[in-house]
Amino acid sequence: MGVAVRVEGLTKSFGAHTVWADVTLTLPAGEISVLLGPSGTGKSVFLKTLVGLLRPDRGAIWINDEDLPSLPERRLYEVRKLFGVLFQDGALFGSMNIYDNVAFPLREHTRLSEREIRQLVREKLEMVGLLGAENKLPGQISGGMRKRAGLARALVLDPQIILFDEPDSGLDPVRTAYLNQLIIDLNQQTDATFLIVTHDINTARTVPDNIGLLYHGHLAMFGPREMLLSSTEPVVRQFLNAQRIGPIGMAEEKDATELEAESQSGVRLPPLPPIPYQLQPSNGQYRRAERPPGQWCYEHGVTPPPGSFVAEVPA
Ligand SMILES: Nc1ncnc2c1ncn2[C@@H]1O[C@H](COP(=O)(O)OP(=O)(O)OP(=O)(O)O)[C@@H](O)[C@H]1O
Ligand SMILES: [Mg+2]
Repeated sequence: MGVAVRVEGLTKSFGAHTVWADVTLTLPAGEISVLLGPSGTGKSVFLKTLVGLLRPDRGAIWINDEDLPSLPERRLYEVRKLFGVLFQDGALFGSMNIYDNVAFPLREHTRLSEREIRQLVREKLEMVGLLGAENKLPGQISGGMRKRAGLARALVLDPQIILFDEPDSGLDPVRTAYLNQLIIDLNQQTDATFLIVTHDINTARTVPDNIGLLYHGHLAMFGPREMLLSSTEPVVRQFLNAQRIGPIGMAEEKDATELEAESQSGVRLPPLPPIPYQLQPSNGQYRRAERPPGQWCYEHGVTPPPGSFVAEVPA
């Protein structure tokens, strides 16, 4: 069963540059959360801070009553075993073949025999569709394959908290659909707590239980999927619907003049699109974190956009 991660007032800067300040959120135990945000807003820095690779300036990260940033190095090493992390660049060892890369955490953190390791590695490689590529070096396979090898390695210790930094970047649309299904199925089987950074709006709309949006040095919003997908808050609406109209500009925030010009131009925002059904586990079982479609909207007196929760032909 996954554990909750409670982040309180977290602030991180490099020199005079504050990446984000005062981030407070809880990744609920066993639920899937997605973190969105424009490039450079500090999503990767957030993941690295969660696993203790970067030290925050202020704030707490609570896991099972322990505050990670204040743990001594040795204890932190232990707590890190709860995490499975896929870094944005895959971070495979270039001189090790795929098999050894995936086996690495098992050799480092467990006393399993090579025979037991072999079984676990093959199981994970099969899961990500890489059986047969065991003997290849990372430089000899495609970017998408490296990504999937990184996934296999992140999962090999059966982590309770899974952090994926853009697992879908560089994957073709069909592989992205398989990956999303894999995430839902893994969550159903393991009840682990997931945090996924993605730029894929379709993934953000259909996979997670919760969505967060980092923008302009702070957490603009974090909450249940239906809350963000029905939100008319300008930044959230613009980002989740991939629109040009709104406060987010090409490089940074639009300035007052640009926003004024936009509102004078008479361009109207299109209506909010329907909220799609959440992706279901492929074995027909329920996920523990799953809620009936429309429940959040109903409980909060929010009328979902017209056409929401209408059965579609599965992709
Ligand atoms: N080790 C570091 N030292 C100094 N600055 C850093 C370091 N790591 C990240 N930064 C800065 O922190 C900011 C956030 O970077 P980060 O990689 O977290 O962005 P991101 O949201 O993941 O972007 P993308 O969507 O492009 O991956 C950037 O301005 C980056 O230059
Ligand atoms: Mg990043």
